[in-house]
Amino acid sequence: MEARTTAETVHQAEANKATAIGRDAFTSSLGVIAATLGSAIGLGNIWKFPSLTGANGGAAFIVIYLLSTLFVGLPVMISEVMMGRKAKADAVTTMQKLAPNRVPWWLIGAAGALAAFLIMGFYTEVAGWVFAYIFKALSGNILSTNPEQTGAAFTSLITDPAQSLIWQWVVLAVVGIIIALGVSKGIEAVTKRLMPILFGILLIVCVRSLTLPGAAAGLAFLFQPDFSKVTAGVVLTAMGLSFFKLSVGMGTMITYGSYFRDDQNIPTTTLRVMLADLSVSILAGIAIFPAVFAFGFKPDAGPSLLFITIPAVFASMPLGGVFMVLFFVLAAIAATGAMLSLLEVPVAFLADRTRMTRTQATVLTVILLAVVGSAAALSNSVLADFKPFGMVAFDLYDFATSNVLLPVGGFFIAVFVGWVWGYDQVKQALTNNGMLHNERVVKAFFGVTKFVTPVLVLIVLLRGLKII
Ligand code: TRP
Repeated sequence: MEARTTAETVHQAEANKATAIGRDAFTSSLGVIAATLGSAIGLGNIWKFPSLTGANGGAAFIVIYLLSTLFVGLPVMISEVMMGRKAKADAVTTMQKLAPNRVPWWLIGAAGALAAFLIMGFYTEVAGWVFAYIFKALSGNILSTNPEQTGAAFTSLITDPAQSLIWQWVVLAVVGIIIALGVSKGIEAVTKRLMPILFGILLIVCVRSLTLPGAAAGLAFLFQPDFSKVTAGVVLTAMGLSFFKLSVGMGTMITYGSYFRDDQNIPTTTLRVMLADLSVSILAGIAIFPAVFAFGFKPDAGPSLLFITIPAVFASMPLGGVFMVLFFVLAAIAATGAMLSLLEVPVAFLADRTRMTRTQATVLTVILLAVVGSAAALSNSVLADFKPFGMVAFDLYDFATSNVLLPVGGFFIAVFVGWVWGYDQVKQALTNNGMLHNERVVKAFFGVTKFVTPVLVLIVLLRGLKII
């Protein structure tokens, strides 16, 4: 017992030492917003949100997603940023510094690093298809109004092991280089330039979609709820999406929070990011569904919506080739900002806790990711019959993270803030040591995080996984 306590104290002392002075961080309030927004906006908005909304009843799904974002996603996001900023360290170290000695809360951080690998495993693959589609769109060779032809083009890409792997490596190299450049010179600088471009392109594509004859049916689909499609599984999917969208439940926001400035207003910053992220999801829906309906396509194609339905939709409209290039550039930008934050979690841990330099940590992580990711990349070819838990690796990575690891992580983070850290610490952190007069916000946040969030997550998780 004695020895264990000593070992743990040493452990925590090491964790304290790890927060080196002169740690890289975001340099301006705008930079904080760009980077955090860059993490939130991603394939979740452009690929997952439209395909899940399309497959699960349109507006009804969006309503559940909204409630879950408000009562689960946002509280967990505020919690993570607050903890990271307090500890100024990577996710594992943060938990070691903030938690009482004998409880292994750092496991949350460790589970987060695992989640980062699994998410990156399939995310880099989808991003690889997006990158590939920019070039295919430029050459015009996927432009066909016949979904069977666009489908065949997509199938030939994803069933080709060499192409799948190579595009994944291209993606990993791009994000690896940006991460190696550092927090302010890499992440902040890149997201600050790319986010405005993303919004610009999105608006252009929306206007195009909305001005098509017959666009109204798509809007009706987006905004009229049909609750008959909603099951416990759908509710869990919507909640999983709210975690995924805000990049929470696994330590990304702890890591980014550690780069937040001490005078940053955490509740308003996170609220803005949440609203902007939501707007991008809705705008992506507006860019996609009116066009899908206008040309008589089905909204429920699922994950292939982006790669089979959308090219056929673009081929059907005047100047479709141009809009298709713009659309996939938009998706590539979104995916890149998000992957930076995922890669940053293990890189920050290695750089904080080992003797590795940031570049070495990045190279090692990228190589490991290429290995983990290859199982997802080959899910449609060589490894199509490799189905642990009845799913190919690609689907398993996706399911295990959004529907299990993120909700479980979010549950423990909310419990930690509400029941272990307690109100006084939270108040100090969220008022910036009394500089801000936002006591009512702090109270509301604390009440929700302590009582509502954990209960909701637990019920939805257990029901959704058919455990109760
Ligand atoms: N939010 C990103 C998206 O919508 C994905 C993402 C980035 C993420 N970092 C994350 C998801 C951390 C879960 C956890 O595409």
